[in-house]
Amino acid sequence: MPKYKTALVTGGAGFIGSHIVDALVKKNMKVFVVDDLSSGRQSNVSAKAEFKKCSIASPEMVAYLKEIKPDVIFHCAAQVNLRNSLIDPPSDAHTNIMGTINIVHTAASIGVKKVIYSSTGGALYPETAKLPATEEVPAEPSSPYGISKRSAEMYIHYEHQVHGMPYVTLRYANVYGPRQNAKGEAGVISIFAENMVKGNPVSIFGSGKQTRDYVYVDDVVRANMLAMTSSVVGTFNIGTSKETSVNTLFKKLKSLTNYPLQANYLAVIPGEMMRSCLNAKKAKKALGWEPKTKLDEGLKKTAKWFVGTRV
Ligand SMILES: NC(=O)c1ccc[n+]([C@@H]2O[C@H](COP(=O)([O-])OP(=O)(O)OC[C@H]3O[C@@H](n4cnc5c(N)ncnc54)[C@H](O)[C@@H]3O)[C@@H](O)[C@H]2O)c1
Repeated sequence: MPKYKTALVTGGAGFIGSHIVDALVKKNMKVFVVDDLSSGRQSNVSAKAEFKKCSIASPEMVAYLKEIKPDVIFHCAAQVNLRNSLIDPPSDAHTNIMGTINIVHTAASIGVKKVIYSSTGGALYPETAKLPATEEVPAEPSSPYGISKRSAEMYIHYEHQVHGMPYVTLRYANVYGPRQNAKGEAGVISIFAENMVKGNPVSIFGSGKQTRDYVYVDDVVRANMLAMTSSVVGTFNIGTSKETSVNTLFKKLKSLTNYPLQANYLAVIPGEMMRSCLNAKKAKKALGWEPKTKLDEGLKKTAKWFVGTRV
């Protein structure tokens, strides 16, 4: 089993990245964090990590990487807002494609021992796929965000094939948990929880019957740790194989937060997928990963965090 001493977490001030930083600090690793704080917060970053504010797409990033030469990189930094990617594809591509090339091309040249990439399943597999979707379903991204995440995967694979850089790409379902930013549009659970805790109105777009596969952040962090310690290279779905509707989430969170109001049903968002769900049997076989946190347990922990921090 490979033993690494130093790690760089890009996007380590964000939701998933900051939990990865915590797990690495617990393992007594030396942790470097790079984040431009565009959606993350410095207060999320463990005081035991070394923080650098910088864009992953900048020349400064390349110089820093050459200076710190980490054993392993967890690449989580990204423009994560799908709707922003529709409005401004160049900016999405600049961060998600150019930023990734910047990192992995340098990583390969300085002999980084492993790159673990936070990718997406939800924005890659077409709605017509048999659900839960396996990795064998060809990616057919229907948004600039999906296209940029898929392109980044391909550049990472290229660095492996041509320059021998080991990697694991993890394609997440819909991740939820404490510290998720409720300002964007991605995390319906964090948006509902924050609005309910504040007593604000809660909107549901369309019928609320649209489903997603919700995976708890601790399970995602464990997938990253297994990807680090295993010697496998490849791409793996990280999801629960279970679909939950927006209406069900609303009901469960309403009860957990004692929210007195009903949801406002608004017009459906054009192009929004009705269903999404990932099959993670490949990750179970290769990495020994499977989700451990039941939805009710994860929602309880998430609601508790929003009650504790936002009121
Ligand atoms: N949350 C999910 O459900 C989900 C699902 C699939 C994939 N992902 C992927 O997981 C990763 C982490 O997402 P998250 O949910 O934690 O989002 P997040 O917004 O909390 O984290 C992203 C972090 O990247 C930073 N960042 C953005 N652009 C940057 C740049 N140019 N340079 C440096 N830092 C930059 C942000 O400030 C933020 O801290 C992303 O790559 C995302 O595409 C997330």
